Amino acid sequence: MIAVVGSNMVDLITYIHRMPNPGETLEAPDFRMGCGGKGANQAIAASRNGSEVLMVTRVGNDAFAANTKANFAENGISTKYVLDTDATSGVAPIFVDKSSQNSILIVQGANAKLSPEDVAAARADLAKCSLIVMQLEIPLPTVYYTIRLAKELGIPVLLNPAPAHPDLSLEDIKDCAYFAPNESELALITGMPVGTLDEVRAAAGYLRRQGIRNVIVTLGEHGVLTLTEEKEIFTPPFPVAAVDTTGAGDAFIGCFANAVDAGLGLETALKRAAFYAADSVTKRGTQYSYAYAKELEFPAE
Ligand code: RIB
Repeated sequence: MIAVVGSNMVDLITYIHRMPNPGETLEAPDFRMGCGGKGANQAIAASRNGSEVLMVTRVGNDAFAANTKANFAENGISTKYVLDTDATSGVAPIFVDKSSQNSILIVQGANAKLSPEDVAAARADLAKCSLIVMQLEIPLPTVYYTIRLAKELGIPVLLNPAPAHPDLSLEDIKDCAYFAPNESELALITGMPVGTLDEVRAAAGYLRRQGIRNVIVTLGEHGVLTLTEEKEIFTPPFPVAAVDTTGAGDAFIGCFANAVDAGLGLETALKRAAFYAADSVTKRGTQYSYAYAKELEFPAE
């Protein structure tokens, strides 16, 4: 079983020709509302790949909350620790342009109230998990507490430092077994350039030297570069015609978490995750674009 200690949001996705200028009103061709949030997305992706998933998260006191809980339940995810909060639900207005690129605003809402005490209350169930997955749409003290708890329980942590947080403390996250930034997150966290593969390698190497065992840098359409204690792995991209890249990073993390949970080797896990994320960008929406594993023919190992 995997635990995701993280966010959930309501995605308000507007498909646009271009962003309006200040003071301008523009018509946009399409809109879709869906369940999102990096934590929930990763949980759903892991579940659709076959993992049992425990979600620790907070929903608001508005009309969105019941829908979010129902979505977890429909996807077979335990709602035991989906906690009600006297706040608005997290929401994410998202704009997707004609070139399939997205711009996202997030309003944390209830996610900002997920506390170390909430995680401590789930301790007995977390202790049964093979992996704990986190992102940065919840308070940093909660992330740091969960890493310390996981260490005490002997459970590996996969931290996806998204969205990038300028105050992230490397000292507090160095015990993560897997640390998976994209290149812009890597640049912000290390303060190092990431314009070339050599620069990405150097920045990832810096994180390795801080004590993080496996640094996995997702490079979008350029593949994935991973540095481990023993070696470097380059996972080539799966070229596809992208229509909407929203949530592709979460598809990668959720599928990777499932593969680790299933005991697959690192190289196989990375390849499956890259393939799964590539498939997701061929469809519109965040969770709408996540396939069930049985619908896909994953590449041979
Ligand atoms: O990574 C995509 C996600 O980022 C969206 O679902 C949105 O909710 C934001 O959290």
